Amino acid sequence: MANTILVGAQWGDEGKGKIIDVLTERADVVVRTQGGNNAGHTVFLGQKKYVLHLIPSGILRRQKLCVIGNGVVIDPVGLVNEIQGLQKLGVKIGRNLVVSETAHVVFPYHRELDAQREVLKGKHKIGTTKRGIGPAYGDKAARVGLRMIDLVNPEQFAEKLQRRLKENNEVLKALGARPLSLKQVHAEYRAAGDFLKPFVANTVVLLHDAMRRGDDILFEGAQGTFLDLDHGTYPYVTSSNTTAGGACTGSGVPPHRMDRVVGVMKAYTTRVGEGPLPTESAEIADMLHAMGREFGATTGRARRCGWFDSVATRHAAMVNGLDDLAVTNLDGLDTVETIKVCIAYRIGRKRYDYAPNDVQLLAQCEPIYAEFDGWRTPTTKARKWKDLPAKARMYLKAIAELTGAKLAIASVGPAREQTILL
Ligand code: IMP
Ligand code: MG
Repeated sequence: MANTILVGAQWGDEGKGKIIDVLTERADVVVRTQGGNNAGHTVFLGQKKYVLHLIPSGILRRQKLCVIGNGVVIDPVGLVNEIQGLQKLGVKIGRNLVVSETAHVVFPYHRELDAQREVLKGKHKIGTTKRGIGPAYGDKAARVGLRMIDLVNPEQFAEKLQRRLKENNEVLKALGARPLSLKQVHAEYRAAGDFLKPFVANTVVLLHDAMRRGDDILFEGAQGTFLDLDHGTYPYVTSSNTTAGGACTGSGVPPHRMDRVVGVMKAYTTRVGEGPLPTESAEIADMLHAMGREFGATTGRARRCGWFDSVATRHAAMVNGLDDLAVTNLDGLDTVETIKVCIAYRIGRKRYDYAPNDVQLLAQCEPIYAEFDGWRTPTTKARKWKDLPAKARMYLKAIAELTGAKLAIASVGPAREQTILL
């Protein structure tokens, strides 16, 4: 399969978990390279539902090595719970999971600050997952973060935590929040550190060893292009690079070793949290929610929904260098009579073929739509390209062409077998 980067081409929740699970069949190693437990990847196997937050979805297949790379921020208590939860479901986790020793650690003060900052922002809040992601990456950039290597080293850890807690407790008190107990945080984190120690290693060396052996690596992106810290709808973004470049910096695998970039996108658009969403539509949101679809895997929030936005996905094709596309949730449109696709934006008479970087302007953008006839037939049983209704095939081809990449996969339901490989 060669080394493949998989990214979200929209605002996250494109159904990456399922596509990763499908692609993992042909990979030897699966790596997470950015984000933290703000992510939620849902995979259905038979009757069982697995929700992954930090652990690569590859863990659900035997014989696959799963790596949490240096670019990820790790809530160690969350990671322990996730490992134990999966083990309870019968998933084998041992030497198949390796965690980077240079990944940064998320602490309770990060979560508390995340929440407090949202309150301070009032109506300008970002709508974060409150998992402490922004403050943790903030500490990393400010060079005051603690890494996994510190967490698993008891002597260093106590002293470093004490210093960080001192500063953060001052900030929390000033914000009117309760300071945290050093004793309690220390005990909780040391226990998690002891549990995680056997998993912690130099993952850069490990990945290069794997490449020398000829292993194929799948880089599992979290969130989506428009939540990218640099390329998204700033400040309504997450705090990591969710685009293809993040796979290199977040793993230590250099750009020239990457062979292919796959972009995952829904057949429509969704977004969780605040920020502009030009194609947002109550009509499609009500329809999808009534079908029981589009509720967040991490926070349970109802996702905002809209029509497919090819201005957005074209941008995603550009910044990620998308080779192939995986289109998911095609079945979500099975009952729609007329399907709209945004082909450009406009503000008054001015037409925009690219999204303006100023979020105020983007918020004013109105979509210019093309219309497609719906197929109005269930697609969930389709297994091959020719099983799909002609109108569905036409729609898929059109959105791939508008995006500017090759259609490689179409997904018509959550199960592994509900996947059409072109
Ligand atoms: P944070 O990553 O928790 O700081 O949240 C920042 C923004 O990214 C918010 O709008 C979140 O809803 C969004 N976000 C973060 N992680 C995900 C994800 O995995 N899927 C979809 N949206 C996400
Ligand atoms: Mg998700």
